[in-house]
Amino acid sequence: MNNIKDYENLGSKRVLLRLDLNVPLKNGNIIDETRIIKIIPILEFLIKRNSKILIISHVGRPKGKFNKDLSLKPICDYLEKKIKTKVNFISEDIFKIKRNDLFKEPEEKVVFFENIRFYEEEEKNESNFSKHLASFADLFVNDAFSCSHRTHASVCKITEFLPSFAGLQFETEVNALKKVTIEIKKPITCIIGGSKISTKIDIIKNLIPKFNNIIFVGGMANNILSFKGNRIGKSISEKNCESIIKEIFEISKNTLCEITYPEDVLIGKSADDDAHIKDLKDIADDDLILDVGPKTLKRIKNIIEKSKTVLWNGPAGYFENPNFAKGSIEIAKTIIKKNKDNSIYSVVGGGDTVAVVNQLNSIKDFNFVSTAGGAFLEYLEGKELPGIKALN
Ligand code: 3PG
Ligand code: MG
Repeated sequence: MNNIKDYENLGSKRVLLRLDLNVPLKNGNIIDETRIIKIIPILEFLIKRNSKILIISHVGRPKGKFNKDLSLKPICDYLEKKIKTKVNFISEDIFKIKRNDLFKEPEEKVVFFENIRFYEEEEKNESNFSKHLASFADLFVNDAFSCSHRTHASVCKITEFLPSFAGLQFETEVNALKKVTIEIKKPITCIIGGSKISTKIDIIKNLIPKFNNIIFVGGMANNILSFKGNRIGKSISEKNCESIIKEIFEISKNTLCEITYPEDVLIGKSADDDAHIKDLKDIADDDLILDVGPKTLKRIKNIIEKSKTVLWNGPAGYFENPNFAKGSIEIAKTIIKKNKDNSIYSVVGGGDTVAVVNQLNSIKDFNFVSTAGGAFLEYLEGKELPGIKALN
């Protein structure tokens, strides 16, 4: 993997820079800026060397269609203030743009394209689309490690058309995760939550043989609860997961890995509601499971107490509403306490999980904080990520 920091004569070169500015948003406001902070160094690095920068990113999952709620404009404005450099936001149809339309003014340094996932070609890893993007630039830099599990045009295909390099943050994350997987101490506990069930459920069966405990929380747990015959009301869940979950439990029987999932929950009638504790048998059809309950939390804390390594991806509940942030906060605090007396090695990953840790002002109290969620889990699975492979 070539790194852009070793490239000489970047001056006047046009650099197509893939970033992951998929930050947690609430009502259009950025609620955690960690992913933005982490990419400031690459921007400063390129600006200092007089490169012309073309930023590509996505936010959310617009599925190939324009969606004004998923515009990158607010994120672009925010970034512009952070780097104190004028950024030219480009919302025009990308297919109508030609190389010579960009950087017409000599003082123009940074352009920022609208959400690349507004184009269906992106997720299809489409060749002509990638070629067109490549025509704007001289080099490609990927500083979005957290997208490297995606075989998408601006992550993978693009590397066939431009000399390609890893960015500063990309390399930091890969090196840190490499170290974690080599030096890991048992018992290892992996806490998996969040709402991207389809992204993660497939990965779990490969993680089982490597870990001593897998704890399901958040939206991830709902499918397990439903599989075990519980009602989950209106809670988020994924269709057609039964066979994967069956496999997960079967594989775990033949290993030392114990699987834990909620035995009680906090529900609301809507995401803005107050929290009510419920046992699983009492869940009503109009309930939304939004956090783990106190009995579950006690069990999770016990498991963390006995672990030497903990890897955590995905919040335990709908932490955006403080009434449902308790599970995530208590998990974080238990890990932090053990970290302070050096009795656990802790890695946390994912945009939302990092947001929880940040709310507690505790990034420094974990051994490693990765911006990556799905990519982090796939890396732990031990397979080569397509975005890394494309750079090699
Ligand atoms: C993430 O948040 O993990 C990355 O931005 C990738 O997002 P995705 O899961 O929607 O592909
Ligand atoms: Mg995310």
